[in-house]
Amino acid sequence: MDTNLIREELVSALAWRYATKRFDSERKISEPDWNVLENALRMSPSSFGLQPWRFIVVKNAAVRNSLREHAWNQPQLVEASHLVVLAARTSVDTTYVDHYLQLVATERAIPVETLAPYRGMIVQFVENLTNVGQIEAWTTRQTYIALGSLLTAAALLRIDTCPLEGIDPKQFDAILDLPRQGYSTKVACALGYRSADDAAAGNKKVRYQRDAVFSVVE
Ligand SMILES: Cc1cc2nc3c(=O)[nH]c(=O)nc-3n(C[C@H](O)[C@H](O)[C@H](O)COP(=O)(O)O)c2cc1C
Repeated sequence: MDTNLIREELVSALAWRYATKRFDSERKISEPDWNVLENALRMSPSSFGLQPWRFIVVKNAAVRNSLREHAWNQPQLVEASHLVVLAARTSVDTTYVDHYLQLVATERAIPVETLAPYRGMIVQFVENLTNVGQIEAWTTRQTYIALGSLLTAAALLRIDTCPLEGIDPKQFDAILDLPRQGYSTKVACALGYRSADDAAAGNKKVRYQRDAVFSVVE
């Protein structure tokens, strides 16, 4: 594919997207598109590749209504075609690290023992963070990388999104029964198609100029 076209397409998709407030509840994301968006989440990079997340796609209307009550009553929670809650692992221990490394060994068809030095690095890093109580802050950051991938992928497909931090994570956790599974809610994202009467669609995008956000070290 022509690199110039890809550049133009990416720039225009990023200008096109905005945090959608009102979705057209009649329009649903097609299965092929949804598969691509799931892939964008699943393929997101994460520290050491540990993927300490779970993405909960909430289809149930009653559950989405309950979640809305704990999300500033934002209509996106129920009007959008799809709602994903991005949750992070509340702990990462050596058992989990080994579980992941076993997958690496299997996928790459190598003996797991060859990963011992890598394992040592990860375990030391994780133990340090655990000792200072920062494991969850770290896993949380990983979920935001996945959120970023999702927003960009959706924009390229001209699928609207609204990232949602205006939520009560504790209430989401309780409704989705996440603590029992070892996860906690970090952020959510509504996806679908903008409603014709979403006033926010007409808002000019507000971004600082290049010089205000870039410094160059030469
Ligand atoms: C992590 C995150 C959380 C957000 N939470 C909400 C939210 O709860 N409700 C909402 O309407 N917009 C939310 N937004 C949208 C921002 O307000 C919006 O991205 C910002 O104002 C820039 O506008 P634009 O995305 O339309 O270009 C959130 C954005 C991010 C990145």
